[in-house]
Amino acid sequence: MEKERRIHLFDKQAAKYEKRRKRQSGNGWRRRMFGSVKGKTLEVAVGAGMNFNYFPKSIEYTGVDFSPAMLEKAKAAAKEYAIKSEFVLSEVENLSFPENTFDTIVSSGTLCSYEDPVKVLKLFNKWCKKDGKILLLEHGIVENAVLGWFQKRLNPFVLKRVGCHQDRDILEIVRRSSVEIVNCERELLGYLYMIWASPDK
Ligand SMILES: C[S@@+](CC[C@H](N)C(=O)[O-])C[C@H]1O[C@@H](n2cnc3c(N)ncnc32)[C@H](O)[C@@H]1O
Repeated sequence: MEKERRIHLFDKQAAKYEKRRKRQSGNGWRRRMFGSVKGKTLEVAVGAGMNFNYFPKSIEYTGVDFSPAMLEKAKAAAKEYAIKSEFVLSEVENLSFPENTFDTIVSSGTLCSYEDPVKVLKLFNKWCKKDGKILLLEHGIVENAVLGWFQKRLNPFVLKRVGCHQDRDILEIVRRSSVEIVNCERELLGYLYMIWASPDK
């Protein structure tokens, strides 16, 4: 799918994502993963700012998204939660931060949407400080083969409608990137991947 079409798809969903953000009363998985964020923090494909509720106020935050409508919602969320932040409107793939810039890199629900997620993770390896953390809260293929078959069948339709792949093997993608997995937990029959990682040494 071409870039303009993908941006348009996410622009159209920005209001829905903001509603979801405002409705959430405390997501245990997000809290567990993102309560520990610290220092100079990069959040890729921030969407409408779903994670601000969980970040410590002390961080120095940079948020990126290629959808102007999503980024506007994220800016509003940052203000609401009083997080010191800056935002970049860009494709993640086109960013050029110096090596070893960030203490923490956060990604939630983003590896489903890049054309080449391994390439993006390799960028995290460069941008993250060697003693920094890469936190991935992602969705992908489930552990059950029958349900996985349905995910694969549904994938073309869902991708066309919302811009997210449903059937990616997130663990396999992370392994191919050489980002080092410190801990991985899966929930919802394996659909949700919680990965604590560090950059390759
Ligand atoms: C499924 S949403 C997740 C949003 C948010 N991280 C969350 O947890 O709610 C995917 C987000 O990725 C953004 N996105 C997708 N591909 C991108 C790319 N190549 N560069 C920058 N942003 C991208 C979309 O605009 C959208 O905001």
